Amino acid sequence: MNSNYYKNSPNNIILDDITKEILEKHNALEFHATLQGYKPTPLIHLPELSKKHNVGNIYIKDESHRFGLNAFKVLGASYAIHQLLAKNPESETFCTATDGNHGRAVAWSAKKFGKKAVIYVPDDTTAQRIKVIENEGAKVIQIDGNYDDACQEAEKTSKANNWILVQDMAWEGYEEIPALIMAGYLTLFKELEENLHTSSDSNVDIVFLQAGVGSMAGAGVYYYLNKYGANRPKIVIVEPKEADGILLSFQNNKLSTSVGNSTTIMAGLNCGTPSLGAWGLLKNGTDYSIRIKDKYAKQAIRELYFPTGSDKRIISGESGVGGVAGFLAIMNDVDFQTVKESLDIGSKTNILFISTEGDTDKKVFDQIINDNKIDN
Ligand SMILES: Cc1ncc(COP(=O)(O)O)c(C=O)c1O
Repeated sequence: MNSNYYKNSPNNIILDDITKEILEKHNALEFHATLQGYKPTPLIHLPELSKKHNVGNIYIKDESHRFGLNAFKVLGASYAIHQLLAKNPESETFCTATDGNHGRAVAWSAKKFGKKAVIYVPDDTTAQRIKVIENEGAKVIQIDGNYDDACQEAEKTSKANNWILVQDMAWEGYEEIPALIMAGYLTLFKELEENLHTSSDSNVDIVFLQAGVGSMAGAGVYYYLNKYGANRPKIVIVEPKEADGILLSFQNNKLSTSVGNSTTIMAGLNCGTPSLGAWGLLKNGTDYSIRIKDKYAKQAIRELYFPTGSDKRIISGESGVGGVAGFLAIMNDVDFQTVKESLDIGSKTNILFISTEGDTDKKVFDQIINDNKIDN
């Protein structure tokens, strides 16, 4: 099957599994609020952008302001490591595989608790992304392979060395730590309750959530299902065209690995296999899964960086704009005409995006904003 989208028929029930148990039990927001520099990230209203696309209101939650780390990821790593150390204070070394942001988050959190970090990255990780992880005091090992290969390497070496693997994706038998990471991500969704004080949370009609392994999107789906059940906003999952494991999982009706070539500028979303813990939530609580070309991410970066009228400039990186990029694809690409119609996007539709990172790779970001001939 090679369609660029899948229309799901969700039952809106949260699966009774270990992920649910952990998400129910933990309140990471309480923990995050104790960390130095904690502040809810801003929710930005963009009236000019909504006029331009003839929709109701557009809101973007800007995670580039998260603890000075330019991405939301630290919410998960810090909470998981905090919980793991509460159980085993003697643990010395934390390890993970990453496309960049999660590795930086694990390194930052390990350092905060006076511990060590070893971070595995795939062969296409840029020098800039490696440098920021090393700047947090971690050892970075670049492997000859993609993100899934890096995950396997991190798991193998962690076992051999007695390190604690803090991976943001779950598989059979490794579900608890990824669920703690998702519990950490829930903070950003819970903050929406405060953020959306001008209107109300229930005023949002469609939420676009970009996905790599799907843990962030899964936390969002849990938040909405838990709060609103079947009356939740519609949820659209957005992946890069060549790293579309979630779309393929929907199409196959079982957890599946992308057969794409793992080439995309959306580095944080460049993951082949969805997380087991996230998949159960996505399957039961989302409406559409789509995969998009990189050109929409570039367009989205430029639309947010060069706003019209009084709209605020937002610096959102290649993965950060994933949701906005999905929206642009649905609004403009003939491939998604039926998706647009079926979602009933019109002048009264209120839309929420999570900009999950800022310019985490400045060089790539600068190239995009300086290039006005974007067509691939
Ligand atoms: C900036 C950014 N956005 C979104 C994601 C996707 O998160 P997940 O892998 O949980 O789907 C990532 C993952 O690394 C990321 O770095």
